[in-house]
Amino acid sequence: MRMRIGLRAKAYLLIVPLVMAVVLVSGVLASLEARAGLTDVATRLLAYKAEQLRDYAYSEWDVIEELGLAGLPEYRDVVEASIGSYATSLLRSESEQILALDSDGRVVMSVGLSQPGGDDIHAERLVDPPAPGWFEREILDDDRVGVAFDFEPFEWRMAVTDLESSFFAEVYDIGRTHVAILAVALAVVITMLSVFVGYIIRPVEQLTLTIDTVSVSNDLSHRVDPGYPDELGLLAADFNRMLDSLEASYRQLQEKTEAEVEARRIAVDREEETLFLLGRVSEFRDMETGEHLSRVATLCSILAEMLGWSRREQTLIYRSSQLHDIGKIAIPDAILQKPGTLTEDEFNHMKLHTTIGHNLLKDAKSEHLLHAADIALTHHERWDGTGYPSGLAGDDIPLSGRIVGIVDVFDALTSDRHYKRAWSTDEALDHIGSHKSKHFDPKLVDIFTANFDELRTAIRR
Ligand SMILES: [Fe+2]
Ligand SMILES: [Fe+2]
Repeated sequence: MRMRIGLRAKAYLLIVPLVMAVVLVSGVLASLEARAGLTDVATRLLAYKAEQLRDYAYSEWDVIEELGLAGLPEYRDVVEASIGSYATSLLRSESEQILALDSDGRVVMSVGLSQPGGDDIHAERLVDPPAPGWFEREILDDDRVGVAFDFEPFEWRMAVTDLESSFFAEVYDIGRTHVAILAVALAVVITMLSVFVGYIIRPVEQLTLTIDTVSVSNDLSHRVDPGYPDELGLLAADFNRMLDSLEASYRQLQEKTEAEVEARRIAVDREEETLFLLGRVSEFRDMETGEHLSRVATLCSILAEMLGWSRREQTLIYRSSQLHDIGKIAIPDAILQKPGTLTEDEFNHMKLHTTIGHNLLKDAKSEHLLHAADIALTHHERWDGTGYPSGLAGDDIPLSGRIVGIVDVFDALTSDRHYKRAWSTDEALDHIGSHKSKHFDPKLVDIFTANFDELRTAIRR
């Protein structure tokens, strides 16, 4: 049995980096707080030293003043030396420095562990001495922080200072360490999140992508990689099985459809062949060839196309027009094959081939045969109403009957028959033109004559 790591377990895994992220944020806040605290402590330390120095200086001066020695320069020097000595005792690092400036900004005392002070230092002068209180500024080419105060008896501005870089060194160290920890922790959190989220998101993305591809392309051959055996993996496997089944059904359906199309094609071919043979029966007895039928069918379908009929309608008239004289099977040979002119009775009998053909076909089920029934009945009607059997006129004559009427006459005129020679195409065309709006539909005559070259090419006349 395969081990299943469910989506729930994977979701819980996401909690790990999220907890780490929370801890990280807390760490950042705590670190910022510590940094501020450290700065505060350091600042207070410097302020404390300044306060100590100030108190010491005044107490020394008070002693001299109480003894009435304040006006004596040598005692003032003693006080100054004592203040310098005390200042030195306050220093803890080489970066610290205590300065005393006179009222002109000249450095009158400079105390430091690495720089005990000298004439060169005393020659320095600050144009803009630091104001009493906390300051952060450049002093004698160094960035310094410190606390300044006034020692009025000497008219001094004193300052307890430290180099800014040294004063904030611990703070900077904390910052650097913090940035390093932050970077590493962030990298770990992002990596864990992307890996764990990938466990869940990647299979979902793959599944939806495959579903999209299948629905857009209708190509059932695509499959999803089942990946991990979790719920999504099972879903992907189910989806693949569904595609397998759909593809098999589709293939079966396709094979059936192809077989049906082939069967239908064979049936249509057979029907066409049957219709042609039926048509031949009538023409055979009339001592004509099958070529008449195929020429009539071809010309009818081309005219139908010129009239804007659909492909299906063109095929319909192509097949059904071949049965236009099917009724002649009931006309006696004596009339049908009579070499001379028919008597009135004989001609009346001959006219019956239209209604006989119609009666033969009218009850058929086939669309082609029903259409052929209309054509058989109306292909001898005339536009002016002088035709037979019903004397229909104009648009009352079905259009398929009018089409077969003009095409049948044209082909009969240009063919040899047992009672006449073949006319030339020009003679036949003249005849058709002269019977426009009499025998033939004027619109069909116009189309027939305007496109005569194309029609003649189609039947090789
Ligand atoms: Fe006919
Ligand atoms: Fe005919």
